[in-house]
Amino acid sequence: MVPSNNRLSPCPSGLRVSPQSYERRRSRLKKDVGSGILLFLGNMEVGMNYADNTYRFRQDSSFLYFFGLDYAALAAVIDIDEDREIVFGNELTIDDIVWTGTQPTLHDKCEAMGIKDSRPMNELKTYLDQARRRGQHIHFLPPYRGDHQVWLWELLGLNPAEQNNSVSQRLVKAIVRQRIYKDEEEIAIIEEAVNISTQMHLAAYRKVRPGIHEAEVAAAVEEVACKGGNTLSFPTIATVKGQVLHNHGFIHTLKEGDIFLLDAGAETRMHYAGDLSSSMPVGERFTERQEIIYNIHLDSFRAAVDMLHPGVPFREAHLAAATKICEGMKSLGLMKGDPVEAAHIGAYALFFPCGLGHMMGLDVHNMENLGEEYVGYNEGEAKSTQFGFKSLRLARPLEPGFVFTVEPGIYFIPELIDKWEAEHQFTDFINYDKLGPWRDFTGLRNELDYVITTDGVRQLGTIKKPMTLEEVYAAKEA
Ligand code: GLY
Ligand code: MN
Repeated sequence: MVPSNNRLSPCPSGLRVSPQSYERRRSRLKKDVGSGILLFLGNMEVGMNYADNTYRFRQDSSFLYFFGLDYAALAAVIDIDEDREIVFGNELTIDDIVWTGTQPTLHDKCEAMGIKDSRPMNELKTYLDQARRRGQHIHFLPPYRGDHQVWLWELLGLNPAEQNNSVSQRLVKAIVRQRIYKDEEEIAIIEEAVNISTQMHLAAYRKVRPGIHEAEVAAAVEEVACKGGNTLSFPTIATVKGQVLHNHGFIHTLKEGDIFLLDAGAETRMHYAGDLSSSMPVGERFTERQEIIYNIHLDSFRAAVDMLHPGVPFREAHLAAATKICEGMKSLGLMKGDPVEAAHIGAYALFFPCGLGHMMGLDVHNMENLGEEYVGYNEGEAKSTQFGFKSLRLARPLEPGFVFTVEPGIYFIPELIDKWEAEHQFTDFINYDKLGPWRDFTGLRNELDYVITTDGVRQLGTIKKPMTLEEVYAAKEA
């Protein structure tokens, strides 16, 4: 196992989470869970095609949030009953140092984060065995990596099929209760991530033109993040086939008349994410038909943002955006009936099959590994299984400190149109016979990031991302 060098260095701007914040977070978690042992497994280096050729190391976000240790192959225990915080790990061997450089000792790494007790990794299982013999409950989080499943099997004797039933909902809910509210320190770092993300998008507006390849635009976008020492918060989507919502292929050459869709964001060195989308003409201007759809989408965007206020369920913002899309589609003769009803029963999803947005923080879809039902939904509120609504990751009432994205889109997905038509879905609302000329339209969206304040909402980022047609055309000429 090759330990990674610590990357949890301050952002180039100097912004960082202070060691005191990590201590405060742990102390609050202890009080909230109340008793037992909290087990946190840090992430390992993972081989892509052989062991030493690894994916970029990414620490687990909850491990980062509570311990601030950006090194591979660590585990941590918070023993609430004994009032102990212990990090388990191994010192570097001379081979590790030869290949990856030296690091502070485990003790020094931990001390910098306010943790006084560090022990060799082979003592973790003994510690947990003894705790279980004393009758202490071991709280652990849902594993999302195979190596963690194997590790939990070794540590707790639970095979992977049993693990999800034994996950600690108490720990999950306590972590969500904390990580869901961003403090000023976090918001400043997220805003930095958003600013870098905006610069990535501005690079695309300048780069996009007929004759170049999707991969060239993606490279120009990613360069902005990488040259600042940042990484990507998710794989870049850069395509003229935007009806494929997560299109990472980079296989097309751009041509006059295409819509170019970019969905890309930066992850800062402190690992907070930005996430923006843009849609732009490949040529100088959109076609008339594209401008109409773009403006319907902008109407839906504004309708959603108008709803963002403490206490308002994000589902209402989603429905406001969906209603505007239905209104627009009705004005083009593609839908019929009452747009409000079309939105509420789910007919909108033919053109807008995803959710309006998602929480954002240390993960671009924040805490999705802990369970969307805990993050985006209030306790007892079931997530719909209906196509469209089932992709709504955030539905709960908004509260100050929530950071999330807004990203309505309009997509013409031929396979979905064919399926719904064959199934006679929502025939009171959709004019399937009018959709033929629109099948090759592709798709478009914009995405911005927001924080709820005590009395409203604030768009994150101090650099303007183009939104109106005039702004889009001007950014292309910049
Ligand atoms: N930006 C990609 C996504 O939100 O899924
Ligand atoms: Mn997003």
